[in-house]
Amino acid sequence: MKYNFDEIINRENTASVKYDLRKDIFEKEDVIPMWVADMDFKTPDFIIKAIKDRANDEVFGYSFRPESYFLSIVNWLKRRHNWEISKDWISFSPGIVPAVNMAILAFTEPNDKIIIQPPVYFPFFSAIKNNNRAIIENPLKLKNGRYCFDFNDLEKKLADAKMLILSNPHNPGGSVWTKDELKRLGEMCLENNVLIMSDEIHADLVFKDFKFTPLASISKNIADSTVTFIAPSKTFNMAALSTSSVIASNKELKDKYDKVLDAIHVGLGNVFGTVASEAAYNYGDEWLDQLMDYISVNLDFTQEFLNEKIPQIKMIRPEGTYLVWLDCSELNLKEKDLKEFMIKDAGLGFNDGRMFGTGGEGYMRMNIACPKQTLLNALINLEKAVNKL
Ligand SMILES: Cc1ncc(COP(=O)(O)O)c(C=O)c1O
Repeated sequence: MKYNFDEIINRENTASVKYDLRKDIFEKEDVIPMWVADMDFKTPDFIIKAIKDRANDEVFGYSFRPESYFLSIVNWLKRRHNWEISKDWISFSPGIVPAVNMAILAFTEPNDKIIIQPPVYFPFFSAIKNNNRAIIENPLKLKNGRYCFDFNDLEKKLADAKMLILSNPHNPGGSVWTKDELKRLGEMCLENNVLIMSDEIHADLVFKDFKFTPLASISKNIADSTVTFIAPSKTFNMAALSTSSVIASNKELKDKYDKVLDAIHVGLGNVFGTVASEAAYNYGDEWLDQLMDYISVNLDFTQEFLNEKIPQIKMIRPEGTYLVWLDCSELNLKEKDLKEFMIKDAGLGFNDGRMFGTGGEGYMRMNIACPKQTLLNALINLEKAVNKL
């Protein structure tokens, strides 16, 4: 089957965060929304079918996740990422951000220090702060157009820390961490008794020349001090179905996490999320391969357009994710002006780089998971606005 990712879908008036909150976020309703990380493509048909089939049961009383749900996750991880896990390692979270928060509560105490690697997904900062833990920054280094870990800096900071929250692949930098990088990071954390929370929500969204490695697949020792977060939400455009997994081979860690999950009583989940997740992991391979081919063409197109027509803006070419990190520093606009310029002059709703902390100044994050026509309209807007500067 050939899926049609060119189709323009009207998402307005669907209570869509990306579309229907534009006035609140950008003070302007007509920006092209390329910010929050969901896709302007239809959620695949096999997921819609699973939801409709379940709706046909016409009773939505309390339900649990059946064995087949867990097996779909086990099989997906083996098939797509060559990672063998046991279904007993899998726990639940309604989302990855809630999972990060629950993990902080489960594994650390107030005032404990937690390492993050900015520029990085902004809820990591708020999760640490909101739970009264302290942030230690280990900023990434940009080397030849790729974000890398700064191991020398990390070495100095690990002794003080209890936990490191990793974005693997990295949002917003787009690095798909290699096995060697992850092994070194994992071993350094092990030596210092630092637990790693590996947020692998973007794991399935990796471009052809790159290979995703689950951190916990590297060795038993690293696995036993890692808790991994995965979800079908980014991969299959189903974030609103609130169904994610927390994976821990170390039973002590899993029990501690489950205790927090039980305490706040959000473990039952949502029956539509359960059937949708199972369908995604059982039937999603072909759709996902076609999706990545489409996004890869969008990525090449963006790169060529910028090189040829807006060379002042440099793209950090992502190895994974559908998020493109744009270095706009050569436009020489002060930070506030850069944000205003994108909204008011270019009519574009990007994420302001400063949201991602240290190293985000002068950058904008653009979401290219949209039909080619939408991307073209956005790039033309950008070109015209830059030419007027
Ligand atoms: C690295 C990362 N983690 C987590 C999330 C969101 O997770 P959830 O919506 O499941 O809380 C995102 C969404 O953009 C993300 O990029």
